[in-house]
Amino acid sequence: MRGASNLPVAMVTGAGHGIGREIALQLARDGYFIIVTDVDGARAADVAKEIGEHALGAQLDVRMRQRIDLIVEDVTNGIGPIEVLVNNAGIYPNTPFLELPEVEWDAVFDVNLKGMYLVSQSVARKMVERKIKGRIVNLSSGASVSGRAGAAHYATSKAAINMLTKVMAMELGRMGITVNAIAPGLITVPDAPLNQEYFETLVAAIPIGRVGQPSDIARVVSFLVQPGSEFINGSIYFVDGGSSTGRTTIPLSRKE
Ligand SMILES: NC(=O)c1ccc[n+]([C@@H]2O[C@H](COP(=O)([O-])OP(=O)(O)OC[C@H]3O[C@@H](n4cnc5c(N)ncnc54)[C@H](O)[C@@H]3O)[C@@H](O)[C@H]2O)c1
Repeated sequence: MRGASNLPVAMVTGAGHGIGREIALQLARDGYFIIVTDVDGARAADVAKEIGEHALGAQLDVRMRQRIDLIVEDVTNGIGPIEVLVNNAGIYPNTPFLELPEVEWDAVFDVNLKGMYLVSQSVARKMVERKIKGRIVNLSSGASVSGRAGAAHYATSKAAINMLTKVMAMELGRMGITVNAIAPGLITVPDAPLNQEYFETLVAAIPIGRVGQPSDIARVVSFLVQPGSEFINGSIYFVDGGSSTGRTTIPLSRKE
């Protein structure tokens, strides 16, 4: 571990790729020392290198309680207390319900939901111990309220994240720690497993007429963790170009 940082410390899970990577880069620009974690240690190291001297890359599978506790302890003692946690790690396989294997159901819930509980509990315990007025941001999804075929496991894991966010906000708010969630719509990330037809159908349902970029989400994280945002607690922010407004592809009805 490096010596103590004089910057506030932010930890991002699943930060080696996609939205998490962009959140890490954004918080670095905002003046945080970033703990870039990912189950893929090489990816985490690459992003930390991209940020430069005010970042540390660490291999972290959010399902591994002992490793989480070890990293949180080492970072707190060696760099500084974690003030911001972004629970971004998540997987989104797409499988029809009738074919959905138990192992895939468990994997989605273990990474998306249980991992969020494990990392949050470890970090929040330390925040309370150190009297840190921390910020926790959870990555939910538009699928948490608007189901889609093939996402029985994913959508239900994200619905549970919305409620986890609320109960954490209720309990931790009393200790000065806020907990909020961001529910992104379709965000383009490199190598996403979407075919062209599926992609175009989704874009047609987005009122502003474009898909989101990871920076659209990172900007909201930045806003939620900034000083002065502490009255925002237990909120779910839908950041989706208007996709969650209703049945967006129904045309205007008029009498001829
Ligand atoms: N991309 C979208 O359209 C979209 C929409 C709504 C919500 N989200 C949510 O945003 C988050 C990030 O999505 P993304 O599109 O950037 O995904 P991504 O696949 O590009 O990146 C996810 C990262 O998480 C890491 N990861 C996977 N399992 C992990 C584990 N067990 N422990 C730690 N890290 C792990 C991966 O290695 C990867 O680097 C997810 O929670 C996802 O559900 C994404």
